[in-house]
Amino acid sequence: MVHVIDHPLAKVRLSRMRNIETDSRDFRLNLVELSQFMTYPATKDFETVEMKVKTPCGIATGYKLKDNVTLVPILRAGLGMVDGFKSMLPGAAIGFIGLYRNEQTLEAIEYYCKMPENIANSNVIVLDPMLATANSTIKAVNIIKAKYKPKSIRVVNIIAAPEGIKAFTKAHPDVDVFVSQIDEKLNEHGYIVPGLGDAGDRIFGTK
Ligand code: PRP
Ligand code: URA
Repeated sequence: MVHVIDHPLAKVRLSRMRNIETDSRDFRLNLVELSQFMTYPATKDFETVEMKVKTPCGIATGYKLKDNVTLVPILRAGLGMVDGFKSMLPGAAIGFIGLYRNEQTLEAIEYYCKMPENIANSNVIVLDPMLATANSTIKAVNIIKAKYKPKSIRVVNIIAAPEGIKAFTKAHPDVDVFVSQIDEKLNEHGYIVPGLGDAGDRIFGTK
């Protein structure tokens, strides 16, 4: 299922990120803040366990998360979302999948994968700002499902193309996708229109 996070404060931040005039520092800052917002809807169904909490005035019913959480940013651009999610989920472990798009075929090529030991007992949140063709996110979820078999997997993207949503939900109908906005289309180079350009380059100032 696809969940679009339609919140005014999220939209304001995304607009700043889209703006061609926004520099790398401001782009990263808005991405971190927007990622914090996205943590709430993306974790809404997490199970909690009750516990007793001693307050200065008595005993309250408190809660802790039942399961571990693993954040899996897709390198490079997914790294820009980690600080926002980690600030809301301080106990989360972090795994990394390195993928780059072949510029001609738009196929996602794996170059790195390192996951935490206890990933099988955790709820995994895959992070990547852009869902364009969805080749990268589909491949990341393929790898996680095949090799690590976690309790659950969900995906958080900032901007998605309709083509990417269609491809991803066909490949992984059981994986929920949380997205800030769905844009118009892909252009002939596989970039999202209007989008925000190349997320990795804007985060890391590489172009
Ligand atoms: C970008 C982006 C996604 C991917 C999306 O990464 O961060 O991972 O493209 O496109 P897709 O849905 O068509 O696969 P890129 O390959 O440019 O690598 P980078 O993050 O290192 O810049
Ligand atoms: N990757 C990006 O960073 N931006 C796009 O628009 C498409 C893929």
